[in-house]
Amino acid sequence: MKIFQHKKTIMAYLERYTDKNIGLVPTMGALHDGHLSLVEQSVVENDLTVVSIFINPTQFDNNNDLEKYPKTFENDIAKLKSVSEHLIVFSPTTEEMYAKNITSQKFQFDGLESEMEGKHRLGHFDGVGTIVKRFFEIIKPDNAYFGEKDYQQLQIIKTLVKKLNIPVNIVGCPIKREENGLAMSSRNERLPKEIRHKAAVIYKTLKKAKEMFGTKSANEIKEWVNVYFDENPDFKLEYFEIANANTLKSIKQKTQNTKYRAFIAVYADDIRLIDNIALN
Ligand code: PAF
Repeated sequence: MKIFQHKKTIMAYLERYTDKNIGLVPTMGALHDGHLSLVEQSVVENDLTVVSIFINPTQFDNNNDLEKYPKTFENDIAKLKSVSEHLIVFSPTTEEMYAKNITSQKFQFDGLESEMEGKHRLGHFDGVGTIVKRFFEIIKPDNAYFGEKDYQQLQIIKTLVKKLNIPVNIVGCPIKREENGLAMSSRNERLPKEIRHKAAVIYKTLKKAKEMFGTKSANEIKEWVNVYFDENPDFKLEYFEIANANTLKSIKQKTQNTKYRAFIAVYADDIRLIDNIALN
């Protein structure tokens, strides 16, 4: 395994392999089986796989969340080695990625950035766009892998590469879940054991919404979810939306031949959890 901290050295190293296919798995570390499944897919589909580990400060709208974000570098490396000894890890410092200017570029992603996560985490997607674009410029991957847990992020990155003509294929990968259905997330590590167990309710709600989608209106389903969480003292619902899977605009009425998804964000104390499900 090769570990690089500097842009120049990883770029010089990758220059030797211009005839090889490169897969990139961007992460913020605190790796779990969800990340590892992306790495495994990249290893199968590419000659070389680069995993970036970088906690990107510009995508956090909340300092507390940034400070508490788990940092488990040694453990991450051990997990990556268990997938393959031949991975290339890029783990730069904040200074390496931002020099003295820790700010993000402003993007427009055809309105995708104003929905859900965009409304609740101001500037988040400018931060994601800034860092992912930089990683693409440094690594120049053929394929880049992103989990569907962050479905809005995945749609935004697809739009970013299209708008900026970045020659990379964006691969969306299915959500990995814990045994109780909770979507795998680095933040799950911060949940007290009992709450982690009870957090099964998030996926249960999504599955119930999917079941109701056949017979109930979007408003009726939203109403049901709101009441359900009002009666649950362990979790605070931030939003539940039923949206067009491409535009991410919430819907009032279904139309034929359109794909829909349900999206949810909840707080367990100060820990924010998101999830989503395809409805049709
Ligand atoms: O999904 C993440 O972990 C981050 O948003 C990403 C894509 C690594 C950018 O920092």
